[in-house]
Amino acid sequence: MRKYFMLFVSVSIFLLAGCTDSVAGEDDKHNLTLAHNHPTSHPVHSSLEKFKEEVEERSDGDITISLYPNGELGDEREVIELTQTGAVDITKVSAAALESFRPEYSIFGIPYMFDSEEEFEEKMNDPEISETIYQSSKDIGFVGLTYFDAGMRSLYTANRMVETPEDMAGMKVRVQPSATSVNMIEALGGTATPMAYGEVYTSLQSGIIDAAENNLSSLVSSKHGEVSKYWFYTEHAIVPDMLIMNNELLEKMSPEHREIIRTSADVANEYHKGVWDEAMKEAKDEAQNEMGVEFHEVDKEAFKEAAQPLHEEMKQDETMAPIYEMFKGDDSDEES
Ligand code: GCU
Repeated sequence: MRKYFMLFVSVSIFLLAGCTDSVAGEDDKHNLTLAHNHPTSHPVHSSLEKFKEEVEERSDGDITISLYPNGELGDEREVIELTQTGAVDITKVSAAALESFRPEYSIFGIPYMFDSEEEFEEKMNDPEISETIYQSSKDIGFVGLTYFDAGMRSLYTANRMVETPEDMAGMKVRVQPSATSVNMIEALGGTATPMAYGEVYTSLQSGIIDAAENNLSSLVSSKHGEVSKYWFYTEHAIVPDMLIMNNELLEKMSPEHREIIRTSADVANEYHKGVWDEAMKEAKDEAQNEMGVEFHEVDKEAFKEAAQPLHEEMKQDETMAPIYEMFKGDDSDEES
């Protein structure tokens, strides 16, 4: 049934796009679709609204954007595929979801790849690094426009306590549907259960999984705090959200419009930096005081130690070694 629905969605969007996008004789006018899987209360949605506002203002309405939040057009994998074909023009997805399209995106799934959010920001703000990632998928139909900080991911459980990787034995942990996420949780001691984000709430509730891992926002905006009352600061990964666009469309736009898209993406990125930290403070506050979630520290050094084999593997991988080196730069020796 879902398949038929998706077929219907893509045909409808395609028809809609055909009617409105780049109408001949109307001088490069575009009505773009932008899909993502967060509710409108999520900070990323506000940053996407900012992107829309900037694009529409800067182009004097020659480019308009229709936002489709809440996974209305499909889960992350589905909207990436729709962006590849051009049925959807722009999509915001987690970098983890992009990994099965281009291996370069797997770098973010390596646990403890970055020591701090500052280090992550510093690397991503180096255009040589970020453009290597953004352009890696050009030949398969899309490119990255920018990223949105999605914070540090930590573990949360329905009813189990965790302090060390040993405590994760036999624990079914939902991970993002990517090989690196599976390897990550297995390395950290748990049993990985890959599934789309939209299924996590009911799976925690029904006991299909014992735990999940994400940023603080998911406790509140997706209400996971209703069904998992224990948060553990493993802070094991920083996996950003990525804004990607169909490449053929971007290339056929006028240079001015292309510039507007790029500049607006940069403005939205900056805007997001301004709202994210505050949103996370509020999320923690609400989870703790209104949902009754308990927050616990863990033996982080033990988790870091458990992650080391994945760093070693990546350094040996022909495609990923240069990417790993690019991100780690001079400190790669310290990590080995
Ligand atoms: C983050 C991210 C989402 C992603 C989710 C997940 O919340 O912002 O885009 O879907 O993680 O764990 O799947």
